[in-house]
Amino acid sequence: MPTLLHLDSSADLRNSVSRALTARFATTWTEISTEHLVVQRDLHLDPLPHLPTNALHWAPRLRTPEEVVPADAEQLQNVLLDELAKADVVLIGAPMYNWGMPSTLKAWIDYVHVGGVTSTVDEQPAQPLAGKPAVVVSSRGASYGPGTPGENTDHEVPSLVQSLGISMGMDVTVVTAELTLATRLPALNPFAGQAADELEKAAKSMVDLAQSLGAKFQ
Ligand SMILES: Cc1cc2nc3c(=O)[nH]c(=O)nc-3n(C[C@H](O)[C@H](O)[C@H](O)COP(=O)(O)O)c2cc1C
Repeated sequence: MPTLLHLDSSADLRNSVSRALTARFATTWTEISTEHLVVQRDLHLDPLPHLPTNALHWAPRLRTPEEVVPADAEQLQNVLLDELAKADVVLIGAPMYNWGMPSTLKAWIDYVHVGGVTSTVDEQPAQPLAGKPAVVVSSRGASYGPGTPGENTDHEVPSLVQSLGISMGMDVTVVTAELTLATRLPALNPFAGQAADELEKAAKSMVDLAQSLGAKFQ
């Protein structure tokens, strides 16, 4: 069964742009066929605990003898890794919080980016997720493109691309919706039209990506 792992992390349960966009993707995915499944994990409503120990960042063979991992934490890590391994496509709602990702999403990354398990760190190759498509949907209040005041201050997308794409080898596609605060902040009001255009473009990307990725797993 073609399976989409759908993660959301926005703390906004009413007007979230990233939630609306990922929902659009997930709906399109399920419309492809009755076989197309969605496994949903809401990292805001059901937050993961912070890593209780650094040892979870390492494959057991790379832990030092004195590093002990609590059984329940290891079990949780295995559930998350298993969920990721079973997904054909991973969809991540990633609002920008303080120029980075929400801590709830960071906690998930900390569990699944594991040296020697999902990332190669020595002579033993360990990239079982290499090539798996991941779609990152980054909503942000301001604008971060070339020539904007925010240029070079987006520390969210590069970090997600580094861990999921470069280190874990996944095939990452990024969709952004910028200027989402144009209707809230008077200083950004003049950009409301641009924000609406961005949103429309992002929504179309959701449909196109879901259809093209979903068709690969018919
Ligand atoms: C805790 C918090 C921190 C934020 N920090 C930033 C920021 O650093 N840069 C920015 O452009 N917008 C920032 N925003 C605005 C959000 O990125 C914006 O509202 C976005 O639409 C949130 O995604 P959502 O609509 O899916 O909830 C912040 C919002 C919150 C709640």
